[in-house]
Amino acid sequence: MHSTDRRAAVRRPAQELHRLGDVMDELRGPLVDLEQRVYEASSHYDTGPWQAENFARHLPGKRELSLVATVHGKPVGFVIASRRPEGAHIHRVATDPRHQGTGIASRLLAHLLARTPGIVTLICDPRNQPALDLYARAGFRLTGTTPEGKLSLAAGTPLHR
Ligand SMILES: CC(C)(COP(=O)(O)OP(=O)(O)OC[C@H]1O[C@@H](n2cnc3c(N)ncnc32)[C@H](O)[C@@H]1OP(=O)(O)O)[C@@H](O)C(=O)NCCC(=O)NCCS
Repeated sequence: MHSTDRRAAVRRPAQELHRLGDVMDELRGPLVDLEQRVYEASSHYDTGPWQAENFARHLPGKRELSLVATVHGKPVGFVIASRRPEGAHIHRVATDPRHQGTGIASRLLAHLLARTPGIVTLICDPRNQPALDLYARAGFRLTGTTPEGKLSLAAGTPLHR
């Protein structure tokens, strides 16, 4: 076994990935609790934590594209995305503070990018260095700045029309 694989095998508990639409009803409360823990532990995540209605709100392709990582049946991370004409937009990425640095967000992003043709976009606070590092490793590049001073990032290749 490669030494990096051995480290991962020792440090990383078994994670399962689920489509949001498959676990939304069962895990709605635990997802809101997870979001609250992430919000309280993070400096530049958002102005407030998402509530149940934010997770449940209908957006095109959201239930199919969004992914939830669980360990022993409990959510430990998620990526929430919806379909856009050019590909998809990521609305939220988060990992439980107790599980950060074990590759969960990287895995969620890699799965989303692998199953989404076109360009995947997101917006990130420029002070959120852990998130910017994560996105750079996942292949995102800077595409601009919003009027509010947030960074626009994108990954993937344009769809042929
Ligand atoms: C940003 C965030 C989503 C990253 O999630 P994460 O699951 O910790 O990310 P990963 O584990 O995939 O990668 C993070 C680090 O762990 C390292 N890592 C990955 N797998 C590892 C393993 N098996 N063992 C040790 N380290 C590992 C990565 O190399 C990376 O290290 P580095 O940044 O020090 O170079 C998380 O910090 C978070 O939830 N932040 C608050 C919410 C937020 O800001 N979201 C983004 C809004 S734009």
